[in-house]
Amino acid sequence: MDNLRTGSIAILDYGSQYTQLIARRVREQGVYAEVFPYDASLEILNQHQPAGYILSGGPNSIYEPDAPQLPPALLKANLPILGICYGMQALTHALGGSVAGSQKREYGHALITHAAQSPLFDNLPAELDVWMSHGDRIERPPEGFLPLAASPHSPYAAMGDLERGWYGVQFHPEVVHTPQGAALLRNFIFNICGCAPKWSPEAFIENAIAAIQQQVGAERVLLGLSGGVDSAVAGALLHRAIGDNLMCIFVNTGMLRQHESEEVLHVFRNEQNMNVIYNDATELFLDELQSVTEPEAKRKIIGRLFIDVFSDEAQKLQGMRFLAQGTIYPDVIESAASSKAAKTIKSHHNVGGLPEKLGFELVEPLRDLFKDEVRKVGSALGLPEHIIWRQPFPGPGLAIRCLGNITFERLEKLRHADAIFIEELREASLLVGDTAQCFAVLLPVKAVGVMGDNRTYEEVIVLRAVVTDDFMTADWARLPYELLAKVSRRIVNEVAGVNRVTYDITSKPPGTIEWE
Ligand code: XMP
Repeated sequence: MDNLRTGSIAILDYGSQYTQLIARRVREQGVYAEVFPYDASLEILNQHQPAGYILSGGPNSIYEPDAPQLPPALLKANLPILGICYGMQALTHALGGSVAGSQKREYGHALITHAAQSPLFDNLPAELDVWMSHGDRIERPPEGFLPLAASPHSPYAAMGDLERGWYGVQFHPEVVHTPQGAALLRNFIFNICGCAPKWSPEAFIENAIAAIQQQVGAERVLLGLSGGVDSAVAGALLHRAIGDNLMCIFVNTGMLRQHESEEVLHVFRNEQNMNVIYNDATELFLDELQSVTEPEAKRKIIGRLFIDVFSDEAQKLQGMRFLAQGTIYPDVIESAASSKAAKTIKSHHNVGGLPEKLGFELVEPLRDLFKDEVRKVGSALGLPEHIIWRQPFPGPGLAIRCLGNITFERLEKLRHADAIFIEELREASLLVGDTAQCFAVLLPVKAVGVMGDNRTYEEVIVLRAVVTDDFMTADWARLPYELLAKVSRRIVNEVAGVNRVTYDITSKPPGTIEWE
């Protein structure tokens, strides 16, 4: 059953911002790849019988007092190794070579020339454009290693011990700025490690269905549906595996976007034929949020009420043992990365707390997948494109976009403005790919305007559209002026009580994507 994962690539994370990208690149070749902390034990690293290791880059300098080192056991495992940037330096240091600070930091594009024949550069041109990002460099490779390529500032831009299958590259083959990077990784994965390409959405689905059936047997499974892509794909997968034993609960917090609850119900009840219990808790949420303006207080109230409503519905079903969640691989890696405890800027509520409160056993069928893989699996399961390509929407919903007092009227105003913005973006084909998240925000201030011959004194809408890969940093989207003009005109004309529209041109940092 676990054969999809055997013969995989184990990636040791030395803290590079690109570590997850390495895993994605390997998986794009049809080979499973898993990320481990650099100091994971060999037993853990080898649980899926990898065919080779990749050592990621990292921010340290190898001679610093607490610099992360190569686990000595790795060298005894008798498997191919590819060290990237810091990974190459860690490999060099562990094997007795020397690393030194270079006079010149190499950052950005570089041209490397490779002379020696090696399986790593098989079928690649003699000169390659690569992406460099390093201060230190290899001064003397370890014994047994040949120089394979050089750049103007790195005499050992690539090195290899061909016999043992150990390689190092100073540049980053995983980033798009290294155009031949995928070919080089392919050489490592297939020529050097001998992996077989068997990781595909279809194979994943087949495996996941068997795993779900084995875990839950004939019992029923509960799933909180939000309409977001992760819970949707988890739902479709579970439905394929256990049919009517899947019980979905969809809570309308009253903080959803225009027509959102109808759409979610339509897709899952009518198109996917899934059991969906619907609880419209709008009034309850509105009551408890009355006069609450502090963002963290809003989040806490919504998180608590959501758990209450969900638990009530779950208890009505009686005897539910399993709770499914759409946890995906980046969440798993992040919670495992012990050393890099990220600072909490905002407390994010999803359905965290539910398993503890109700004593559920978790079913997490997507915990091995990256977001792009979740989408491919969703497609292969036949979910509609508009669900698969949905932009993310925060758990607290419009509550954190309706600044100040939350009332039904203000939410309706916001919903209407937001729907106009989204409609125009969709019309201009700017919702998928070109932007990552687009929405309207209602401010708690009034502005003076003039309409016809009358002075107006009404509320202000902010339009927010960002581009980002990971939502940790983001830039504001350079939307066409014409589109912004049309959206502004339509909002002021069509949404009663709004007389001014602004566009947010703040990047993250220093701003955040949401306004609260
Ligand atoms: P920020 O505003 O922190 O948002 O730049 C980053 C991403 O997280 C989403 N977000 C949330 N998601 N619960 C969620 O489930 C929350 O409380 C929450 N706050 C922000 C935000 O929409 C963006 O995608």
